[in-house]
Amino acid sequence: MPDSATTVAAPDAEPLLRTRGLSVHYGGVTANADIDLTVGAGEIVGLIGPNGAGKTTFVDAVTGFARSSGEVTLSGRRIDRAGPHRRRRAGMARTWQAGELFADLTVAQNLAVAVQRVGLRAMVLDVVNGSRPPAGVVEKALDVVGLTDVADRRPDELTLGQQKLVGVARALVGDTGLVLLDEPAAGLDTHESREFGGELRRIAATGVGILLIDHDMSLVLDVCDRLYVLDFGRVIAAGPPAEITNDPAVVAAYLGSAEVQAESDSGADDPAPDTSAGTVMTPVESTTTDETTTESTTTEETR
Ligand SMILES: Nc1ncnc2c1ncn2[C@@H]1O[C@H](COP(=O)(O)OP(=O)(O)O)[C@@H](O)[C@H]1O
Ligand SMILES: [Mg+2]
Repeated sequence: MPDSATTVAAPDAEPLLRTRGLSVHYGGVTANADIDLTVGAGEIVGLIGPNGAGKTTFVDAVTGFARSSGEVTLSGRRIDRAGPHRRRRAGMARTWQAGELFADLTVAQNLAVAVQRVGLRAMVLDVVNGSRPPAGVVEKALDVVGLTDVADRRPDELTLGQQKLVGVARALVGDTGLVLLDEPAAGLDTHESREFGGELRRIAATGVGILLIDHDMSLVLDVCDRLYVLDFGRVIAAGPPAEITNDPAVVAAYLGSAEVQAESDSGADDPAPDTSAGTVMTPVESTTTDETTTESTTTEETR
């Protein structure tokens, strides 16, 4: 980000998201080590790196689902002591790596559930009282991702690409300024992935900041303004895509590896570790989320 000393710093010169020295330790494992990262409004920033590098942990830490040290600011305001709900209300939302949709709800209902819930108790009250989210909130999110026409369909009537966009729309619902997308395009073929990328650009053009984690390099290189590369919890490179792809350390740590979905890859034979079961599932216990999970996952359905 420009660090201009020549202009008078306006209060809103701060990027949407900034982390400083963000670290997460799991026992003896340093999952995130001193991560400095920014995402500006309207910007798509990629976070890439090998499996186990700490990408999901970073999203967990930023959104308040993992205990961390260091600073997290949203539009200049410290939020690193806030719980997940307060961060969500402050305008940041995430998707989960295995982002299941509710199979027997319509697309619009999948979004309505996301906006209504502020925890299990509130959700149960919503159901009991039949309360609805504020008018227009769901419709607006569907419009942003171009899914207005399928609002009344169920997820299994959609293409996989559309299902993935429902997951993104769910995060956008409400006053979301920043979305953190954890492998949102996994399992998409080249064509679907390109369309998905186009939608991400449209979303960013509305002013939303996007942090994008994905192994599909053609998607990441196409849509991201800047990239950060993680390895063993550390940022080993950061910059525009063209610089990153030529960085020898990045090639050695990641781009030369089998995890990367190459540009020519159809995606069909990619191991795509997290979505082989598809995105539409009946609510089942998630294995990936922690006990504090209260966002748009299926876990609390079973509690
Ligand atoms: N809840 C957890 N408890 C203990 N270790 C974890 C937990 N979550 C992640 N880790 C460890 O942190 C490291 C980073 O994992 P992760 O953030 O999932 O990587 P990535 O998303 O880049 O594949 C790995 O070594 C992983 O085993
Ligand atoms: Mg991950």
